[in-house]
Amino acid sequence: MKIDRRGFLRILTFVGVIGATTAYSLPLARYLYLPSELKGNMPKTLLVDENGTPLKASSLPVNKMFVFEYPLKGVINILINLGNQNGEPVEIKPLKVPLSMKPMEEPSMIFGGKKDPTEFAAENTQFYTFPGGTGPKKSIVAYNSICQHLGCIYPQLRYYEPGKPTEFNTNPPKVGERGAILFCKCHGSSYDPYRGGAVLTEPSLRPQPTIVLEWDKEKDYLYAVDVVGPVIFGKTCNTCGGELVGDKTVARKTW
Ligand code: FES
Repeated sequence: MKIDRRGFLRILTFVGVIGATTAYSLPLARYLYLPSELKGNMPKTLLVDENGTPLKASSLPVNKMFVFEYPLKGVINILINLGNQNGEPVEIKPLKVPLSMKPMEEPSMIFGGKKDPTEFAAENTQFYTFPGGTGPKKSIVAYNSICQHLGCIYPQLRYYEPGKPTEFNTNPPKVGERGAILFCKCHGSSYDPYRGGAVLTEPSLRPQPTIVLEWDKEKDYLYAVDVVGPVIFGKTCNTCGGELVGDKTVARKTW
């Protein structure tokens, strides 16, 4: 059968439309048919130590980093009881953070950074609420450890405590010269743990997702209960493509 030019163009258009429809419908179908516990209903997960004993918020060492999996097995996050350079816990206030932003390019808030992340919002972006710190001093926070730039993971991305410089210069250098940042060795992105993981230096243009923590005041236990901010890097949704951690997750010391 002979196909003229117009017929050939029609076939091309038809194939293009089918391709585009399939590309958009597959993720949607995947979402609609996921079991309900994977549609954003996050597990409430108790943080325990290597022996299975619940972590006590009031005795969490200051400026030391723990790592734990949440909301899926294999997804590593960073837990820190944030403090100043004297090792005193610092209250971390809730604040609005843009989902997409320009770098603030100033020292982390603990070293005098004063800028508000909302002033650095990318055009037409949305905002979310970083809940601030929890625990007796409102100083305990947790962030996902998969870098929002290109997906490097812990230990490439990790917390540098105040007063201890990173092994690498950040650009501009003063941002990281005294630490107290989340810094990714892969390409130098840094984030402010005191300001909701907001971007301090590029190339990343998205903050690090926050793991929302709940503090049981009576028992002094900590629970991971949600993820806010950009979707965890490499995922179509925070609970897609893996197995949920369940009701307990081990928070391991890194020092
Ligand atoms: Fe972290 Fe590029 S992947 S800076």
